[in-house]
Amino acid sequence: MTARVALVTGGMGGIGTAICRRLASANGNAVVANCLPGYAHKDAWLEQMRAEGFDNVHAAEGDVADFESSGEMVGRIDSEIGRVDILINNAGIVRDNTLHKMSPMDWTAVINTNLNSAFNVTKHVLDSMCERGWGRIVNLSSVNGQRGQFGQTNYSAAKAGIHGFAKALAQEVVKKGVTVNSVSPGYVATDLVRSIRKDVLERIVAGIPMGRLADPAEIAGLIAYLTSEEAGYITGANIAINGGMYMS
Ligand code: CAA
Repeated sequence: MTARVALVTGGMGGIGTAICRRLASANGNAVVANCLPGYAHKDAWLEQMRAEGFDNVHAAEGDVADFESSGEMVGRIDSEIGRVDILINNAGIVRDNTLHKMSPMDWTAVINTNLNSAFNVTKHVLDSMCERGWGRIVNLSSVNGQRGQFGQTNYSAAKAGIHGFAKALAQEVVKKGVTVNSVSPGYVATDLVRSIRKDVLERIVAGIPMGRLADPAEIAGLIAYLTSEEAGYITGANIAINGGMYMS
């Protein structure tokens, strides 16, 4: 198996960490976990990875909501670790509120971090993937991008948009050995989901046919498959992984 360099944006969060572990388990891969500049838990996170035996996991600071910052980060990865072969556009935030109460700041923050980030980072790795004739790009969309969610006009718009981005880009690079796909998780057991108001979360879990949240490792397993050699014929797809919550 060829060793690859993988970049996971928002790589130190709940789903991001599971993706890093899974991609780093493949022999020889180097995995770079992006985090915000000055992220307070970066060193502790790296120590935890070392303690788990992942010597091939690195950190890269960069604000993926910002084009220049993303470019500088990719430049550092190129020179210090290697050209990015696998990009997981995973960074995401929530600022839930009904549209009636949503501030322009909460709208813009979510669109910048969850959608514009895909442009900001992909733009800096794509040409090199195409020149080398191999690449895998996986975007984290969401069940709430597919079906909409009360209180998430910003998030649902960004998550639907990120798959539109994948479908358009997949067509542009289909002859270059680069695949572009999305995955749409349902509700995953991460701090982000645990931060939903208790009564609201209980109602959400009651509405999941499988009766439980997803384990982040289940999402990471699907992403690892999409980045593999054998997934080379899948492009422009959006794969749902939601415990039966929404079937399309
Ligand atoms: N559909 C229809 N009506 C709803 C509703 C729903 N899903 N949820 C709430 N309502 C109703 C309530 O019953 C209430 O009605 P009344 O005024 O008649 O009592 C009214 O709308 C207001 O509801 P809230 O009390 O919840 O309003 P709030 O302003 O206090 O809170 C909110 C709004 C912050 C958006 C809150 O409802 C909330 O947190 N909702 C969950 C949003 C959610 O699912 N976020 C997912 C985060 S995780 C994630 O995004 C990851 C992923 O990809 C899945």
